[in-house]
Amino acid sequence: MENFIAYNPTKLHFGKGVMDKLGESISGFGKRVLLVYGGGSIKENGIYDKVIDQLKSIHADVFEYAGIKPNPIVEDVDAAARLGRENNVDAILAVGGGSVIDSAKIISISIPVSHSGWDFYSGEAKPQEAIPLISVLTLAATGTEMNHFAVVQNKATQQKLGFASELIFNKHSFLDPENTYSVSRVYTAYGIADLMVHCTEAYFGAGEATLSDKIVFAIMKDAIEHGEALLHNLNDYDLRAKIMYDATMALNMITMHGRVSGDWGVHSIGHILSLLYDTPHGASLSIVLPAWLKFHKEKLAERIAFIGKNVFDVDGVNETISAFENFFKSVECPIRFSEITKGNEMKDEVLKTMNLNKCGGYIHKLSDEDHKVILDLFW
Ligand code: NZQ
Ligand code: ZN
Repeated sequence: MENFIAYNPTKLHFGKGVMDKLGESISGFGKRVLLVYGGGSIKENGIYDKVIDQLKSIHADVFEYAGIKPNPIVEDVDAAARLGRENNVDAILAVGGGSVIDSAKIISISIPVSHSGWDFYSGEAKPQEAIPLISVLTLAATGTEMNHFAVVQNKATQQKLGFASELIFNKHSFLDPENTYSVSRVYTAYGIADLMVHCTEAYFGAGEATLSDKIVFAIMKDAIEHGEALLHNLNDYDLRAKIMYDATMALNMITMHGRVSGDWGVHSIGHILSLLYDTPHGASLSIVLPAWLKFHKEKLAERIAFIGKNVFDVDGVNETISAFENFFKSVECPIRFSEITKGNEMKDEVLKTMNLNKCGGYIHKLSDEDHKVILDLFW
C-alpha cells in the first residue's frame, strides 16, 4: 500500500429538496454571483427558476454566462471569466453537468488573473487563488462535483486536457436526484459508462490497495445492478439517487487511496474522439475501454481476470472483456467507433492526434505503434 493524503473539502448536499439551502450557502461568500450554465436544459426542466428563486431570496446581484458546450471550450471559460472580473463577483454558481462545472472551476481561478485559463493547462501559469464555487449538479457522470479536476478543450492546440488543483474543489455541491430526471436516456447511459471507467482507471493504476479495489468493485456492482433498470425508469427517484451517488464516489478519490495513481490511458484516448468529433465523453469511454483491455490482455491478464471475477462473476480474461462489452451494450452504449460514425477516412486524423497528444496512461504508457493497434481494435 502506498502513502496517500486524503483531503476533500467539498460540502455535499445530497437528496430531495436540498436546493432549499442553496441561497443560504451562497450568501456566506457574498451577493455578487456569476451564474454559469449550458445550452438551456435548465430553462426547460425548471431548475433555472428554482435557482433564481434562491438567488432572489438572498437579494443577489446575478451576472449570467450561458452557453457552455458539452466538451467545453476554453473560449467560453475566458469570456465568462471576463464577465466575472468586470463585475467583481464574490462567488460562482455553476448549474449543469460536468462541462459546466469544469468550466466554472477554471473560471474561478481565471477571474483573479488577466491571462487565458488555458495557461493553467499549458503550465505557463499556476493558480494562486480562486473565487468560491458552488455547484448544482444536473447530470450524474463525471464526479466533478466532489473532486479537484477540470477538463477543457482547446481546438487551436488540438488538446483536451485535465487540470488538477486543490483550489478548484467546489465549496458546496447540491445533488438532488430529481434534477437528473430530465437527462435523456442516452446521456444517462453515458454517465453510467463514465463512472464505470473511472473505477477501472483507478483499478488499473499502480500500488497494491486491496480496500480501494473492493470499493471499486462495490461501486461498479451497484451501477450494474441499477443502471439498466434506470434506463427503463428515468423518473425513478431511488434509481437516479443510486447512480448519482455511484458517480460521485467513483471519482472523489476514495478509490485512489493507497495507489501511486490511477492510469487514465482510456480517458486520454477517449478525449481525442471528443476533441475531433464531439463524441460524448461516456460514449468515447465505452468505445475505448474494451479495446484497451484487449491490447493489455497478456500483460494485465491476472488483474483483468480479478476484476471480472469480482464485478461480473466470470472466469478468465476474454470472459471479462466480453462481460464489459455486454454490460455497455445492455445500457445502450457503443463499443465501436463505427457504431456512431460513418467511413474510415477519419482514422488517419484520429491516429495523428493520438500520436501528437502522446496518448497513454500514467502507468501503462503507449507508443505510436500501440495507438495504431488500439485504434484498429475500437474502430
Ligand atoms: O448544455 P446543457 O443545457 O447543460 O445540456 C447538457 C448537455 O447537452 C445536458 N444536460 C445536463 N443536465 C441535464 C441535461 N439535459 C437534460 N436534463 C438535465 N438535467 O447533457 C449534455 C451533456 O452535458 P455535459 O455536462 O457535457 O455532460 P457530462 O456531465 O458527462 O460532462 C462531460 C464533461 O466532463 C468531463 C468530460 O471530459 C466532458 O468534457 N469530465 C470531467 C471530469 C472531472 N472534472 O473530474 C472527469 C471525467 O472523466 C470527464 O473527463
Ligand atoms: Zn470520465
